[in-house]
Amino acid sequence: MKALSLLLIAALGVSGAFAVDRNNFKTCEQSGFCKRLRAFKPEKSQYTLNVDSVFVHGNVFSAEVVTVDLEKKNILWRYALRLSALADGTFRVEMDEADPLYPRYRTQIALEDEPKGDGLKLISQENGKLTLANTQGHKVIITTEPLKIEFVDHTGEVAVVLNENSQLVVEPLRVKTEKIGEDDEQGNAVEEPEGTWGENFKGHHDSKSRGNEGVSLDVAFPGANHVYGIPEHTDNFYLKTTTSGEPYRLYNLDVFEYELDSPMAIYGAVPVLYSHSAKRSSGVFWHNSAETWVDIVNYSEGNVVSSLVNFVTGGQKQRVDARFISESGIVDIFVLLGEKPADVFRQYTTLTGVAPIPPKFSLAYHQSRWNYNDEADVRAVDDGFDQHDIPADTLWLDIEYTDKKKYFTWDVERFRHPTEMVANLTAKGRKLVVIIDPHIKREAGYFVHEDCTEKGYYVKNKDGNDYEGWCWPGSSSYPDFFNPEVTKYYVERYRYENFPGTSKDVHIWNDMNEPSVFNGPEITMPKDCRHWKPPQDGQDGLAAYWEHRHVHNEYGQWYIRATQQGMLARSDGKYRPFILTRSTFAGTQRYAAVWTGDNAAEWGFLQASVPMCISLATAGISFCGSDVGGFFKNPDAELMTRWYQAGAYQAFFRAHSHIETKRREPWLFDATTLARIRDAVRRRYALLDFWYTLFYEHMIDGLPVTRPLFQEFPKEEATFTIDNQYLLGDKLLIRPVLEQGVTSVKLYLPAKETSTLWYDVDSYQVVTANGWINLDVTITKIPVYQRGGTVVPRKERVRRASALMANDPYTLVVALDANNTARGTVYIDDGETYEYRSNKYIYGSFDYQPTAFTYKFINEDANYPTRSWVERIVIAGIKNAPKSAKLVQGGKQTPLQMTLHRGNDVLVVRKPAASMASPWEIQFTY
Ligand code: NOJ
Repeated sequence: MKALSLLLIAALGVSGAFAVDRNNFKTCEQSGFCKRLRAFKPEKSQYTLNVDSVFVHGNVFSAEVVTVDLEKKNILWRYALRLSALADGTFRVEMDEADPLYPRYRTQIALEDEPKGDGLKLISQENGKLTLANTQGHKVIITTEPLKIEFVDHTGEVAVVLNENSQLVVEPLRVKTEKIGEDDEQGNAVEEPEGTWGENFKGHHDSKSRGNEGVSLDVAFPGANHVYGIPEHTDNFYLKTTTSGEPYRLYNLDVFEYELDSPMAIYGAVPVLYSHSAKRSSGVFWHNSAETWVDIVNYSEGNVVSSLVNFVTGGQKQRVDARFISESGIVDIFVLLGEKPADVFRQYTTLTGVAPIPPKFSLAYHQSRWNYNDEADVRAVDDGFDQHDIPADTLWLDIEYTDKKKYFTWDVERFRHPTEMVANLTAKGRKLVVIIDPHIKREAGYFVHEDCTEKGYYVKNKDGNDYEGWCWPGSSSYPDFFNPEVTKYYVERYRYENFPGTSKDVHIWNDMNEPSVFNGPEITMPKDCRHWKPPQDGQDGLAAYWEHRHVHNEYGQWYIRATQQGMLARSDGKYRPFILTRSTFAGTQRYAAVWTGDNAAEWGFLQASVPMCISLATAGISFCGSDVGGFFKNPDAELMTRWYQAGAYQAFFRAHSHIETKRREPWLFDATTLARIRDAVRRRYALLDFWYTLFYEHMIDGLPVTRPLFQEFPKEEATFTIDNQYLLGDKLLIRPVLEQGVTSVKLYLPAKETSTLWYDVDSYQVVTANGWINLDVTITKIPVYQRGGTVVPRKERVRRASALMANDPYTLVVALDANNTARGTVYIDDGETYEYRSNKYIYGSFDYQPTAFTYKFINEDANYPTRSWVERIVIAGIKNAPKSAKLVQGGKQTPLQMTLHRGNDVLVVRKPAASMASPWEIQFTY
């Protein structure tokens, strides 16, 4: 009990110095399978493909693979290999035991649908090599002995190799023998690696009743400069060689006071990895939900280039190798053949889905704190935003709003009138977000607990009884969302009548869903807990359930999926839900936005927020942000200002803080700081329609909203390691000031070869340099550049909430390229329903040519009655100003007024008053 209370104290944030307690979390050495498999580096792979078993049917190549005892030459184990050609330059390789003792787990919730197939042909079979081709010019060369699979891109070069380093392993499931130490029939001593049937960590015993069942595979990326991905870590965006330290770990964990620049696991695990060089991008998606460790060797990093490396790589210096090691599951890997970064990012979202366009308010500013104490507090904070003229779209309630941490209830003392409280917010166009965590308080009389107990809905412990752990409410159990009945039950809890006080304007925050268990091993659920599995004839004993070890990284996603279904059901599918999740897995973008968890009010955490969110964005999850101001500790005015300025340009923009920090609503700072915060938030609102358009486009094209520079400039090597700058779509370049006390920052503007122009958004002035520049910054400066050749829609009449700006007029900022042209888009709909699915939206394009500026509908039968109009057009970088302009819309012609500004290179078309509800053209004469 003492240990437990210490843990709780730690979790509450009242411990001393700020630092992760590494002892709570395993190193690779302490994780049985990681230690065992990482050490496995044979000279030659034991895995051989049996050529006589090859079979190609449709888009699938299948064959038997066997492991052979290299000395005795006898077959040790048989496996079934499948290689499928999929649409859009993707292949899938699956390898399972041919006849496993029990079914091995196949991840269930990462893929959006069954992937679409492409054609596949076996084009040659000679000298121990099989060559296959898809319909898109990619080839696969399979060497049969030992097994190696090479993927050849459209240029004829090998882009990805599986099992190049012979580290393919699928540990076969075995029956526990009683004869360890004795001799078998052949007279060999029966041995089992230590820990095969049980492991201990910090007083926790893991009863591994299925024994070792690890899988591992190495992946080589010839010619690659860098690899990226496998979020969530606090390290750089580009991944570093891990051989002299810990591998990157993917295991969803609630890491108290997590540390920076670390490969340690934190809340999320998305096992997708991308490689990039000026020549090509490719990637792999390791489709596995068990604990996973990833080793990286980048041969172009000085410290790993050695004669051995040159031997291994055949003298080739530019290559990156990765190796995935998972505790269980099968080998199931998707190979994404690019060729450009945008292609691999899209190939990944083609598999795991895109984020549906979020309700518009959720892209605006959110105000949170653990906790707003009562209704009066909520009202005062809400009013504070109006009094200080700062827009805000939501207020958030953390766990203290509940009746003693019983979710779906209210503390009736402090939140006696939730309906009125919400009505007070919605009257101003604002919303409420409340937290709902997965742990259920084990308290007699609490209806959720009683229902779950009675119906057997909880995750079970290793003995088959309800698992009991410790979280915010004290003793808790965890619903098992793998059981569809449980999800159904949970979905019902979100009905307005079942959760009084809620309405379409109350949205949900799902926290602690790794799941966090304060007294569990590594602060999570024991791996030998049991999850529901559909009953099947003849499957009993160990085959009748999944262990938590198989599914750990996807538990949180089952949870948010149930929440999403619940929020859809409560409005009969009419309104788009907004959900925030802490735990992430492959596919999370389909359900929720993500934040980077419990950071601290330190400059390092502000800096880390950029690569952390960019990494998630390339892994499908663009809707990402960090707690503005830092969760733990108290930010000073400068850090607070810089964090608001950075947050204003990150997709999820929410201030949040720990219960023990000082209150820090913007007006509690001095007047100058308040003004700077106001300015940052207002900048966000001015660009809200731009953000909204980017999210719509993500839904259509699957590309990141927030992008690494190399996505748009893939040949420009300097961009490959930049992770304190990024792009919004292909139009704005953001370089937030992330350093304390600086008066200038270094930033990089690509790309000289294509004569890309960049315009400072504050001055509309073009920067006459590409490459690295030093920019002087004051405390009010946020370096943001608009790319030449783009049009960005803005709304400059900022109001107290985004809903009130729906019909406000636009300012269109046209930044000209070297040919004096520019293009852009805008997306308009009601911001909250699914009516866009019945064409009730406008997706408009802007095209600026020196003779005319044209607005057209991309969805030709657009049908949305917007009352928005154009109040100003700013054309930056104009060299030859037209003499006159007229608007042509709906058969009417109207002469327009223009003025030239700055050094005569900024032309402003004043009040063209063009309606956005129908196409128009502005014609210029010279
Ligand atoms: C942990 C979350 O990360 C934090 O944001 C929240 O305030 C606390 N849980 C309390 O719910």
